[in-house]
Amino acid sequence: MIFVVLYSFVATVVSGWLAWRLLSLRARRKNRFVFGPWPVPMVALGDFDPAFSATEFGPGLGGEVHFISQGDKPAVGGVSDLESWVLSVLAKGRTRIFEFGTCTGKTTYHLARNSPADARIVTLTLPPEGHEAYVASDRDDREHGEIALRESRFTEFLYTGTEAAAKIEQLYGDSKALDDAPHAGGFDLIFIDGSHAHSYVVSDTEKALRMLKPGGIVLWHDYRPKVPGVFRHLGDLSKKLPLVHLARTSLVAYRKPA
Ligand SMILES: C[S@@+](CC[C@H](N)C(=O)[O-])C[C@H]1O[C@@H](n2cnc3c(N)ncnc32)[C@H](O)[C@@H]1O
Repeated sequence: MIFVVLYSFVATVVSGWLAWRLLSLRARRKNRFVFGPWPVPMVALGDFDPAFSATEFGPGLGGEVHFISQGDKPAVGGVSDLESWVLSVLAKGRTRIFEFGTCTGKTTYHLARNSPADARIVTLTLPPEGHEAYVASDRDDREHGEIALRESRFTEFLYTGTEAAAKIEQLYGDSKALDDAPHAGGFDLIFIDGSHAHSYVVSDTEKALRMLKPGGIVLWHDYRPKVPGVFRHLGDLSKKLPLVHLARTSLVAYRKPA
């Protein structure tokens, strides 16, 4: 008798655990919690911007860009191929672009390569010899502070020596120390992809919102629960601003009213 009870107890625990694992995996694949959506509402790319609208042939010509795939060797700290394509398409009509977090410069290159000839791309990175300028707050998670410093190791970039480099202004320094006053209302596309520690996401976001032109777009990378600094801040911000999570990406976007 005792074996029957024990057996059914173990079977219940194991099948409950399996069901929970399956539900969690399905939820993660769909970018939602098991019992509900993530705080920032999800929209299809075509509903966010007409450049992504589908045609009867599938994607339209509005989505044609110059593009380097991740291939089988993803760039350090890089964005996915779909995210690269989204950033490249949005760069096509924009002449003043700012990037928090250069890393290998792959996205910087995409932004320069796909923007109009008179565009200017300003990109900021913490240099390898500038780590002491990094100011973590007590509430920042250690892991993402360490990742930020580990990725701060480039002084030459994918765009270095290319024709596109003429459009790029490379800034070095800690983003909390960036004086955004001279840039107020100056940019029509801003990509926030620097340190993912919470205090930096808050600081970079505040600066980006001041630097944004009417009608301009801010994009954040890595909106997922595993990146708590980004996930928590964008959840909070979505109570004040109409943020949207672009489907099948980890990008969140805000379009400032024109
Ligand atoms: C995730 S990588 C950026 C990837 C890049 N945007 C791309 O799409 O390929 C993060 C970058 O942010 C930079 N970074 C981290 N902390 C920073 C800080 N406090 N100030 C400025 N840049 C920072 C790192 O040096 C690194 O270049």
